[in-house]
Amino acid sequence: MNTIAVLTSGGDAPGMNAAIRAVVRAGCESGMKVYGINNGYQGLIDDDLRELNIRSVSDIIHRGGTMLHTARCLAFKKEEGMQAAIETCKKYGIEGIVVIGGDGSFRGARDLSLRGIPCIGIPGTIDNDIVCSDYTIGYDTCLNTIMQMVDRVRDTVESHSRCMVIEVMGNRCGDLTLNSGIAVGATAIVIPEISSDVEKHVIERIRRTMKTDKKHFLIMVAEGIGGVAELARKIQDECGVETRSLVLGHVQRGGSPSAKDRIVASLMGYEAVQLLKKGESNRVIVIKDDKIVNYDIYEALNMQRVVNTEVYNIAHEISI
Ligand code: F6P
Repeated sequence: MNTIAVLTSGGDAPGMNAAIRAVVRAGCESGMKVYGINNGYQGLIDDDLRELNIRSVSDIIHRGGTMLHTARCLAFKKEEGMQAAIETCKKYGIEGIVVIGGDGSFRGARDLSLRGIPCIGIPGTIDNDIVCSDYTIGYDTCLNTIMQMVDRVRDTVESHSRCMVIEVMGNRCGDLTLNSGIAVGATAIVIPEISSDVEKHVIERIRRTMKTDKKHFLIMVAEGIGGVAELARKIQDECGVETRSLVLGHVQRGGSPSAKDRIVASLMGYEAVQLLKKGESNRVIVIKDDKIVNYDIYEALNMQRVVNTEVYNIAHEISI
């Protein structure tokens, strides 16, 4: 294999730059030409790419976001868009692509692989929602960002003896909410995997905790559950505690990647190039039991999420 390319797709995540750096350096060190595609699959359709060398990726390992920019590309879901992308690959002699992104990005990688362009996926998303992998790049940084933001909020919540209902990102996966909830000692945690009777659950938790003389409360709610302002009003009416709501939003996606994200991204980026060199296609690199392994993308996309109810129950038992 002489020429490969790398792109980032979907929501950006801290650590994507470290993965790009590893792909470019590993590719160049193997004597390959490496292209960086801008704006995800859209750049492949638009012929928006440039050759990268080992110095093009200097001083990016510590930066959040992605130097290649990213997009959620609807045009790529249509055959016309896909064919335009394949034409670009032919034009530049691209024989393999490393796709850094989430499950939507892997669907694109699978479709390109099926059409003769070998692709290797690297899980890059704050959501930790790639079922086949124990970890996705960006998750650790994001978790720490949420924790730091909520620690700040806690100062004011405690000072005013208030309740704060905080909405956390995560797409349809509750990992960010559950684990940040544990890290900040939330009184109640609401995740999409266990979300029946949200109001009842939260109000019961607050009432129970109030009996132990607690006067301030942090309630962590996963996005998608929605209605944090409405839930805050309900809590205020039912529990008699002044309550505010806060949507943390995109601040969660930014910032310098943690050591864990830089290391995992670097190792995965390197591994992606090794797989392409071996002639592999349609694989996603994952972490399983602390080891870097890979799965068929089709198989990976069809795995079912198993919710860790034990951790959820422990979180509630010790946050009283
Ligand atoms: O996948 C990352 C993520 O931040 C999700 O947590 C969230 O649901 C979504 O992206 C937000 O997307 P956008 O940046 O397009 O609003």
